[in-house]
Amino acid sequence: MIKDLKISQVYNSVKEKTIKISMKTEKGIFTACAPSGTSEGDYEAKTLNNEIIIKNFPEIKKKFIGKNEKNVDKIIEKIGVEKIGANLSLVLSIAAIRALSKNDVYKFLNKKAHIFPYPLGNVIGGGTHKGYTSIQEFLVLPAKAKNIKEAIKINHSIWEDVGRFVKLKGILLGNNYEGAWMCKLDDIKTLDILSVIAEDYEAKIGIDVAASEIYKKGEYFYKNSKRKLSSEEQLEFILDLIKTYKLFYVEDPFHEDDFKHFSELTKKANCLVVGDDVFATQPYRLRLGIKKKAGNGIIIKPDQIGLVSKTLETIKIAKKANYKTIVSHRSRDTTDSFIADLAVGTESPIIKCGIHGKERTSKLKRLVEIWKKVKKPEMAKF
Ligand code: PGA
Ligand code: ZN
Repeated sequence: MIKDLKISQVYNSVKEKTIKISMKTEKGIFTACAPSGTSEGDYEAKTLNNEIIIKNFPEIKKKFIGKNEKNVDKIIEKIGVEKIGANLSLVLSIAAIRALSKNDVYKFLNKKAHIFPYPLGNVIGGGTHKGYTSIQEFLVLPAKAKNIKEAIKINHSIWEDVGRFVKLKGILLGNNYEGAWMCKLDDIKTLDILSVIAEDYEAKIGIDVAASEIYKKGEYFYKNSKRKLSSEEQLEFILDLIKTYKLFYVEDPFHEDDFKHFSELTKKANCLVVGDDVFATQPYRLRLGIKKKAGNGIIIKPDQIGLVSKTLETIKIAKKANYKTIVSHRSRDTTDSFIADLAVGTESPIIKCGIHGKERTSKLKRLVEIWKKVKKPEMAKF
């Protein structure tokens, strides 16, 4: 039973204040912190700003006190996720499932959970996350790793090697919102460097184009080369990148309303074609995509829908349709490690949570902790 709820503010990775909830039940105090995105999609559940949430909180709180934590999502749905703000909704929902599971959410989701996601790490970044490139993320996946510790180590070594190389060349500009390197390199040169370094570790590489952010007036704009591509040209460009750099993963290669080109790419490319903004973790958006055969993977960001139960519903739909689920952090994240439990508990094959910085390593550390707790842990196959 929920005895008390407290709201406070903590700093996220970009030193902005975000909401934290502490839920007191007879089993203890359970907390959760809200992440937020920068390249947010139009179909995400809307958040409210902290001041409004804090002002409304005394009234909202009354609806939960004395109630079973099992019913939190139902109570929120009755009020409306966006009415209380998807950020507050999500932290209430996470705190409740933590209370129900005494903080071992992965086990609560699946008693037999023992399959671990490969960490997909952001090595070099740009786009709205700050940086030089138009493509938002240049990612690696340590496909040869036999266990989670090794996987984390490989990603970190690649990140370090890239940092050392760009420093030496005098083209390092710093770290961006997700702890990825910002380098004075265009999109193509970035892939040239990353592919060579990743090869040393037999790691796979991928990209998150976050294409909605570079889509202006019907064209995709690449700022360094000053190229403007039509949707057809964008399709050819992405196919060319997949072939040249043996990309295993392409996220949001088209803007969030372009199911058509997502389908075309999925048909033509032999790799993971993953939808983030296009699906926004919403069951109805994913169903639309499945019908149109758009993509074969989906980014799962709980804050895009604001409820753990709804997130699980989206994952279930994805699995049934054979879409790979990639559980993901946000660019403006906190040290909350919920997504690690979610990824293991749903046996998702990939977790995207960055490499460097405490907001990123908190999820990786939690994966290591869970690895030690479960019987016969093994890495996912995909
Ligand atoms: P965001 O970026 O959190 O800024 O949306 C992450 C992503 O696009 O995958
Ligand atoms: Zn994305």
